[in-house]
Amino acid sequence: MKEQIWIAAAPGVWRTTVGNPGKPTPLSWIGASPRLEAMERLPQGEPPFELGEMRLFDAGSRGRGCIVSFPLGETEKLYGTGLQFMRMNQRGRTRYLRVNSDPKQDTGESHAPVPFYVSDRGYGVLVDSSAIVTMHLGSTMRRGDAARDRVRDRNADSGWKATLVSPRAEIQLPPEGADIYVFAGPTLEAVVRRYNLFCGGGALPPKWGLGFWHRVPKLFDADEAFEEALEFRKRDFPCDVIGLEPGWHSKSYPVTYEWDGKRFPDPRRFVERMSENGFRVNLWEHPYVSPDSELYAALEPLSGSHTVWGGIAPDYTLPEAAEAYKEQHDRRHAAIGVSGYKLDECDGSELTNNAWMFPAHAEFPSGLDGERMRQLYGLLFQKMTGDLFRSRNRRTYGLVRASNAGASPMPYVLYSDLYDHRQFIRALCNASFSGLLWTPEVRKARNAEDWVRRMQTVCFSPLAMLNAWGDGTKPWSYPEAEPIVRHYIKLRMRLLPYLYTAFAAYREDGVPPFRAMPFVVGPEQTAQAEAKLAGDESEILNTTDAAYGKRTGKQWDDQYMVGEALLVAPLFEGETERDVLLPPGVWYGFETGSRYEGGRVVRVRTGLEHIPVFVRDGAVIPTIPALPSVPAAGETTPLTFVHFGEADGECRLYDDDGETFDYEAGRCGWWTARVTRKPDGGYAGELTGPDGAAFSYREAGWTFARTKLPAEAE
Ligand code: GAL
Repeated sequence: MKEQIWIAAAPGVWRTTVGNPGKPTPLSWIGASPRLEAMERLPQGEPPFELGEMRLFDAGSRGRGCIVSFPLGETEKLYGTGLQFMRMNQRGRTRYLRVNSDPKQDTGESHAPVPFYVSDRGYGVLVDSSAIVTMHLGSTMRRGDAARDRVRDRNADSGWKATLVSPRAEIQLPPEGADIYVFAGPTLEAVVRRYNLFCGGGALPPKWGLGFWHRVPKLFDADEAFEEALEFRKRDFPCDVIGLEPGWHSKSYPVTYEWDGKRFPDPRRFVERMSENGFRVNLWEHPYVSPDSELYAALEPLSGSHTVWGGIAPDYTLPEAAEAYKEQHDRRHAAIGVSGYKLDECDGSELTNNAWMFPAHAEFPSGLDGERMRQLYGLLFQKMTGDLFRSRNRRTYGLVRASNAGASPMPYVLYSDLYDHRQFIRALCNASFSGLLWTPEVRKARNAEDWVRRMQTVCFSPLAMLNAWGDGTKPWSYPEAEPIVRHYIKLRMRLLPYLYTAFAAYREDGVPPFRAMPFVVGPEQTAQAEAKLAGDESEILNTTDAAYGKRTGKQWDDQYMVGEALLVAPLFEGETERDVLLPPGVWYGFETGSRYEGGRVVRVRTGLEHIPVFVRDGAVIPTIPALPSVPAAGETTPLTFVHFGEADGECRLYDDDGETFDYEAGRCGWWTARVTRKPDGGYAGELTGPDGAAFSYREAGWTFARTKLPAEAE
């Protein structure tokens, strides 16, 4: 065992280097520059163990990497490890953190596996590596660590468990070693904020990115796409972004990145017409370049040894390759007003009927192998396209299918349709622990009820999108459900200032805009809340799962916070009621007005017309009218503050031009909207903020002591 040297990498962050890790790593590629001032403002804490307690076991022979291990507490829960679909508490599991589009089993593989876990005891551990990292999060037991009295007899003991509570997390590093970071708390939320800020702060999308998105069928031409967009206006459905699927390329699978001359004879005019009607255009692409692409000749010598679908896989860690890609994308897309990309299939799959990806042993000119390139590929595209729009001083917001550590500042949202509605929501929750964003996009549904439930959820997510590329669905596909779907898309538009402020807090303070319950309810509070549930049989949260027999405790991975004041608890097809874990305090049904005492589990019942959403007593929510699309920079929009319940309250409100990076030069501001009770029993509202800062709203009104959101016409 060797003594490791730890250095302070930033306030509350320590780093040690094991072996000789090369570059690029996820963090080095992103160019993460820690937001030190914001990190200093966080509450300061120490991990619950000495850094020297990290054990390092020698790599040994057989080319396997070093093992490092950290101590674990008896009941400690571990969250994170990226975009996980099968569970929230990863304690007791082995996480094989490989990028994979088809994580059919609970192995840890995912579109976005992030070797970062955060503990409910208030610390986090990150391994920054371009290779696959395996984290045994209390799933291994060394001889001598297993207490004799814990060993049980499965023949006779119904309490037998496959995984004994292990006192250590063991992490297998790649053979070259890696940088390891420990993040301090003191709370779980402080750890995640520190991680996000260390990576550069969260992404701030352009305002239009928070409107509604619709992707048209894969072979639609310019006229069809335009007509489909106008249908939103005719039917009074807000929409901001139209996504084009493979048919805009002159060839696809592999792709050219060039407009198809027949379907899109005049791309510039197409984008212009869309823009005149308040729509942005987003383009689908994947990484594998067709021999018929104008980029092929330049990229071919800069590509890996293996092809995918007959296309080359360029090595974009080489500056010449990245420059060629950016120059072409800028000229053909960004220069004519395209707003961003959907970066598909950069994750890879081994499924036999539709396998794609270069093998792990592929060789790339930079020296990276196929394993490392696959782990990094999604990040390479996020960074290149992000930089491309930045060079035009325009923000982008898009979709990506693969990611890794350090992605917090990347303006990209993960997606895939391989999951059921529950897994979609669990992924939304889990994404919040690892600096990721996820959309539970809607494609199709089993019936109108399923359709409505999915649409309601997606309207309370980082990116509200209908992805009709394969099914040709529209928000109004189920006529009986059309009014409900319209209502929720409009509700999202009304909440734009609230959502945008939540993202600004992500950027400036590292607070995820969508947060899983462990951010706001500690383990003891959760246990107490559950205990109050009369007649409930659910077990108190387990630290490990039993492989046989016993069901595991509820993890509350089917509800989440949106910003500071709203809690969303989706309902699923076939359900009309559910349990909701409410944090302490008084809460109201956001659209029903029912009053709830928090700090307990409550049972809610509602018809299809509502998704259960709760608002804190005293909350102040900034709203705008449900416009057809998000106002452009320079437009002024009436703003109404809605105050809920009885308590005094306040909210912060962030604003800037919503489209450029001028906010980095200070052209932005934070306002405070404060509601206080007057001696006569009425309420007064006051908006304060910096003089002269960009403000795109007109203070239109205040409404006080509401128990539910007023209908728009009021
Ligand atoms: C899939 C993707 C879909 C759609 C399709 C186009 O990989 O998940 O959303 O873009 O490719 O071929």
